[in-house]
Amino acid sequence: MVKAKPVCALDDIPLLDGNVGEAALELKIDNKKVFVLAIRQGDDVFLYKNSCPHIGTPLDFNPGRFLNPDNTHILCATHGALFEIANGNCIYGPCEGKNLETIPCRVEGGQVWLG
Ligand code: FES
Repeated sequence: MVKAKPVCALDDIPLLDGNVGEAALELKIDNKKVFVLAIRQGDDVFLYKNSCPHIGTPLDFNPGRFLNPDNTHILCATHGALFEIANGNCIYGPCEGKNLETIPCRVEGGQVWLG
């Protein structure tokens, strides 16, 4: 039996201004490497595949940087689409109405777990 491992510790996603944090992660899901963006809001964490629903490019404008200057939304570096942190819905830009691909996760014991 393989023991499940956490994705990361909550503290691996340090909080910035506005009580949010961001991190780039590389996960193995179903034996495939998946590049993921992690956004923390307080003690909640949201994971999304790092691929814009517009044309599929990574969202980060610098490695591991995903949030807009006000830290209120996820920003796509390629054409400036804005996504809601808590559900990945695009509210502005060429893919308005589309969603980032959610990777379900939960926080338990100060660790982030898939599922
Ligand atoms: S690739 Fe993200 S808005 Fe165009």
